[in-house]
Amino acid sequence: MQYRELRDTLLPILQCTTCLSSKLTLVSGDLGIRALDLLHNEHIVCISCNARYPITEDFIPVMWTPFLREALLNQTDNFSNIRANVVVYNSISDDYQIYTRQHPSVALRVRNAVKRIVDYENIDRGYHLDFGCGPGHVLGWLTQPNFLQIGLDVSINNLRNAHRNSGALVVWGDATNMPFSKEAFDVVTESSALHHIEDWKSVISESCRVCKKTGGVLIDSEPSSDQMAWGPLAIAVFNARFPFYRILSYIKRDKYLFRNIKQAKRNLQAEIDHQPGTGFPLEELRSSFEGAGFAADIIVSPDPELRSVAAPDWKSIVLNVLSGRNPWNPRYGSFTVIAKPMQRTENLTIRADHLGRHYHVCPTGRTKVVGSDLEVSKAWSNDTK
Ligand SMILES: C[S@@+](CC[C@H](N)C(=O)[O-])C[C@H]1O[C@@H](n2cnc3c(N)ncnc32)[C@H](O)[C@@H]1O
Ligand SMILES: [Zn+2]
Repeated sequence: MQYRELRDTLLPILQCTTCLSSKLTLVSGDLGIRALDLLHNEHIVCISCNARYPITEDFIPVMWTPFLREALLNQTDNFSNIRANVVVYNSISDDYQIYTRQHPSVALRVRNAVKRIVDYENIDRGYHLDFGCGPGHVLGWLTQPNFLQIGLDVSINNLRNAHRNSGALVVWGDATNMPFSKEAFDVVTESSALHHIEDWKSVISESCRVCKKTGGVLIDSEPSSDQMAWGPLAIAVFNARFPFYRILSYIKRDKYLFRNIKQAKRNLQAEIDHQPGTGFPLEELRSSFEGAGFAADIIVSPDPELRSVAAPDWKSIVLNVLSGRNPWNPRYGSFTVIAKPMQRTENLTIRADHLGRHYHVCPTGRTKVVGSDLEVSKAWSNDTK
């Protein structure tokens, strides 16, 4: 990254993770933190509370929180969830960018979901944040001439790859306490990152805080609690996969994670909500968005056109059959959320549940199931007559 990109583009939208002030400035001195790679000879200081943030020699601001600071500086093997992510992704970032998330249907779905947000709000330029950006897959899929893209992650190797692959500006920070000012972004996205973060409710409220009230938030490729509620036989098979996958890793490059069993086990700690018996309770997720003033459209088993059509891969078929359930039931697939600010819909609140039914909630509290958004509008005008 260039120095002027840090100074002129990032600094104006960054905020202090300690006192939440956006009065930040650059001062000289490299803070002398040797555990952190090479540092630039200036750092960021908060004018309000004097908190200090290092800058790497390639001008990436290190906007840490106490947890992230501990994860970066504490070199012991005592792994918090966040440190597991830092260590795993610093080690696998190069392989992850080449071999993981390569299926074109994911890119297509993410593009279509963001198109829904920008078309609905008529956004033709602006700021886009992708948090848990990894080596930049989502940023690459969503690159558009009029959008300034920013990636946020806890892994420096991921951030460097993301910048190299997409040209996005990158910030070293924690999505549970985003180092950005209120309403800094028109579009906020993530794919396959939320289940890596223990305090996911803070991540949802942070996503809504940094998103403009004329924008939208996309959550993609996440496991629901219905999906992860496997039976004992499926869990036993899942837990026994390590030796088998280790052999496979020498034949199939996309199984690189299992070449090192210690690393594969550490990855389980990074994938905190993607374990048997975990996953996101969808109604709680919806309430978190509502609490932050956003209406969430939750689509289970979305196809690239965001229709709820289950097309399970062979692994899901095996695990579902072993759990005694129908793998083609959409509720047992992963989910995508498109969340839009509620005030945009004023008195008319449109909600969709995780089975794809749309609800129209009128001010009198009456709720009825309707079909498409068009039918919602018709139902609304009938109701208000
Ligand atoms: C499975 S990867 C997904 C990467 C990318 N979104 C993609 O689609 O390829 C999960 C990412 O979340 C990041 N991550 C984990 N905890 C985080 C946190 N608290 N704040 C920001 N990023 C985090 C990891 O470092 C990793 O890059
Ligand atoms: Zn401060």
